[in-house]
Amino acid sequence: MTKIAPSILSADFAKLGQDITEVEQGGADYIHVDVMDGHFVPNITIGPLVVDAIRPLTKLPLDVHLMIENPDQYIPSFVKAGADIISVHVEACPHLHRTVHMIKELGVKAGVVLNPATPVDTIKHVIEEVDLVLLMTVNPGFGGQSFIHSVLPKVKEVKELVDAVGKEIDIEIDGGVNPETAKLCVEAGANVLVAGSAIYGKQDRKKAIESIRQTR
Ligand code: DX5
Ligand code: ZN
Repeated sequence: MTKIAPSILSADFAKLGQDITEVEQGGADYIHVDVMDGHFVPNITIGPLVVDAIRPLTKLPLDVHLMIENPDQYIPSFVKAGADIISVHVEACPHLHRTVHMIKELGVKAGVVLNPATPVDTIKHVIEEVDLVLLMTVNPGFGGQSFIHSVLPKVKEVKELVDAVGKEIDIEIDGGVNPETAKLCVEAGANVLVAGSAIYGKQDRKKAIESIRQTR
């Protein structure tokens, strides 16, 4: 079954604990945490302190999406704070293989992220090492943007790459996911869907999660 990862970027930060409990009770599979540094992306969000604060509030894996420059410098702090999965952008990692290994050696799962314009070829030589591939379907930086349809062929490409490796590797989509675009992502081969505004913009989080989840 498709996993749903609500992005707390669209939650109410004044009642973050409650907003996390609601999606956990609503059937979420991961909690997606968007970390932005104002350099790699034009926005600043949260850091290890917030990850540390939410860690005791949920049993769900914390899926930490680092949209930051020089991620190697901060990865140990996020692991210490309680991250379960740490994903880094290939565009921010000149030594991607080294960074992926660093994450795994610290005992958490490693993901690699591609911006919409970054080709799948860039992860070909690390695919055997990763637990997750995250494809951006918006330009990262903000919640509530429109889904970029031209990324869909890349989902298929990643699916082929993952199938060829024959390991369990999550294919996650992030940006503009709603019940309509979710269907296209799952058809293309994705099995984890991040959704911010399509879940936190709705009063009934359980219903929102169910309407995004697609079964095949
Ligand atoms: C975008 C973030 C996303 C964002 C998704 O830079 O990485 O995780 O929160 O928000 P929606 O689902 O509203 O596009
Ligand atoms: Zn994200």
